[in-house]
Amino acid sequence: MSGFGRLQAALYDPLMAQAERSWLGELRDELVGHAEGETLEVGAGTGLNLPRYRTPVRVVVTEPEPSMLRHLQRRAEQARVPVLVEEARGEALPFPDHAFDTVVSTLVLCSVASPPRVLAEIRRVLRPGGHYLFLEHGGTHDPRLARWQRRLEPVWKRVAGGCHLTRDAEQLVDASELSILELACHEPPRSGPIKPFRLGRAT
Ligand SMILES: C[S@@+](CC[C@H](N)C(=O)[O-])C[C@H]1O[C@@H](n2cnc3c(N)ncnc32)[C@H](O)[C@@H]1O
Repeated sequence: MSGFGRLQAALYDPLMAQAERSWLGELRDELVGHAEGETLEVGAGTGLNLPRYRTPVRVVVTEPEPSMLRHLQRRAEQARVPVLVEEARGEALPFPDHAFDTVVSTLVLCSVASPPRVLAEIRRVLRPGGHYLFLEHGGTHDPRLARWQRRLEPVWKRVAGGCHLTRDAEQLVDASELSILELACHEPPRSGPIKPFRLGRAT
């Protein structure tokens, strides 16, 4: 576990706190409120979604970063629903086909090594008719913002845990074997170069 990784994990919640209070927490509630049955969350980070789950029978959260896993384990112990924590990358989920009714990802496709492989894994572990719920960012139609994101991305990736500003979540899901059923676009105030946000449901 690197010192930088530990620092990133320790700073994640404080850095997110203002956005969580003013708009992000509300979007998380809206998304996670649709989770049903056996639920998998990919790249769960420090577990900011965990206090928001109510209905599912059981939540399995995966996360590849050891420093994040420590925080995730703590939140899992405080959750209202049973939570199992697994160390795993989204590109190689250690679960059988069709094991979950719901799969959730929030702010993850921007950071993974291979979004197409992660989406293929999500589809594989989702039961037929199950739902993939996502809250992801990127894919602006504003050329000035797109230019700014392209310039900033090389530095941003290094300080923000590999986050790509220019990845288009809607395009990525569209290009996968999943079909989008519902999609909403949010342009939160004061989110700087990290926008727009897509809140969606796919199957
Ligand atoms: C911006 S954080 C989002 C964390 C959390 N989902 C949230 O909404 O606060 C991105 C997360 O993706 C994780 N991640 C990075 N590469 C990954 C991969 N290949 N598979 C799964 N998760 C990954 C990071 O460790 C980090 O926890």
